[in-house]
Amino acid sequence: MILHDNWGRQFRYLRLSLTDVCNMRCDYCLPDGYQRTHDDSFLDTAEAVRLVAAFARLGTRKLRLTGGEPTLRRDLPEIIRRGKQLPGIETVAVTTNGLKLGRHLESWREAGLDQINVSVDSLTPGNFALITGHDRLQQILQDIDQALADNWRLKVNAVLIRGQNDRELPAFLHWLRERPLTLRFIELMRTNDNADYYQRHHLRGETWLRQLVQQGWEELERKEDAGPAREFRHPDYAGRIGFILPYASHFCASCNRLRVSARGDLHLCLFTEQGYSLRDLLQHDDQQDELCARLQRLLENKGEHHPLLAEQSGGNRHFAAIGG
Ligand code: GTP
Ligand code: 5AD
Ligand code: SF4
Repeated sequence: MILHDNWGRQFRYLRLSLTDVCNMRCDYCLPDGYQRTHDDSFLDTAEAVRLVAAFARLGTRKLRLTGGEPTLRRDLPEIIRRGKQLPGIETVAVTTNGLKLGRHLESWREAGLDQINVSVDSLTPGNFALITGHDRLQQILQDIDQALADNWRLKVNAVLIRGQNDRELPAFLHWLRERPLTLRFIELMRTNDNADYYQRHHLRGETWLRQLVQQGWEELERKEDAGPAREFRHPDYAGRIGFILPYASHFCASCNRLRVSARGDLHLCLFTEQGYSLRDLLQHDDQQDELCARLQRLLENKGEHHPLLAEQSGGNRHFAAIGG
C-alpha cells in the first residue's frame, strides 16, 4: 500500500528534520534570531531509522534530511547510511546551508548519499553576510565547486529578497554558465515569525521568470514525480534554473511529500502548525504495523491546498522548525 490522501495524491517523499538548531541566522527564517527552546530532545538515530522504515513500507522512495542544519547532527552519516539500506528507499538527499559542506563530502559519499541541496541566497559577499549573518560565501562557493568536481548531483537554493538580492540575476546567470547544477529561485514564504519581513521583502518570482523566458530560457516538461520547482534550460548554460512559486494557484496539486519534525511530529503541509506526534510508536521495532496504520489514518486530515492560498497568513513559526 502507498501512502495517499483523500485528493488522490500519493506520497513517496519524506522530508525528515533532524534538528531545529541552525548555525546560520538567515533574516527571513529567523528574523529575531534563534530562540533556544532548551528542548533539544530530537529523535535519536534508532527512532529516526524506525520512522523511515515505516514510511518505506508505505511506498516512500526518497528521503531528504533537513533541519535547522542537519550537519549539526554527528550521526548524520549514520542516518544516511541506514536510511539508504532500507528496502524501498532509492534516494537519500540532504539540504544544508553549506557551512560544513567541504568537510562532509567524503563521509556522505561513503554513506551512500545521492543528492545535496545548498542554500546560497546571494553571490555578493556583503549581501550574503547581511542575509545569513556569516561572511563565508567564498568558502561555500569553493566547496560547491569541489562537489561538482566530484560529480555530486547538486541544487542550489536562493530565496528572492526584495532590496537584498533582487539585482543579482546577472551575477547568478554568469555563475551558472559553466556549472552543471540546478539553481532554484524560491519565492519568500510567509511564516508566523517573519510577517513584517515578508511585507518588506517579498518579491514575486514571476518577475525573474519572465525575464529569463525573454532571454531564451525554455521550460522543461514536468516529470510525473517532479518536485515543487518549474525547471528551465538554455543552450548556452551548463546549469538549469528552477522556480519555486508557492503562491501560484496550482502549486499544491502535485504535492508528493510529507514532513516529520526533529521531535517526531508528522506535518501534513509545510504551512500547518499542527503536528501529530509519532514518537510513542518509534520506541521498538515491533511497533511498525501500528505506526503504518496510524500514518495512513492521519493522511485523511490532509487538506487540498496549503492555508496560505486562502488566508495569506503564515502557518508555521519558521522553516528551521520543520525543515522547509
Ligand atoms: P527536491 O525536490 O528533492 O530537490 O527537494 P526540494 O526542492 O523540495 O528541497 P529543498 O530542501 O532544497 O527545498 C527547497 C525549497 O522548496 C524550500 O524553500 C522548501 O521550503 C520549498 N518546498 C519544498 N517542498 C515544498 C512544499 O511542499 N511546499 C512549499 N510551499 N514549499 C516547498
Ligand atoms: N521562504 C522561502 N524559503 C525559505 N527557506 C527558509 N525559510 C524560507 C522562507 N520563509 C529556504 C532556505 C533553504 C530551504 C530549505 O528553505 O533558504 O534553501
Ligand atoms: Fe538559514 Fe536554513 Fe538556518 Fe533557517 S534553517 S537560518 S534558512 S540556514
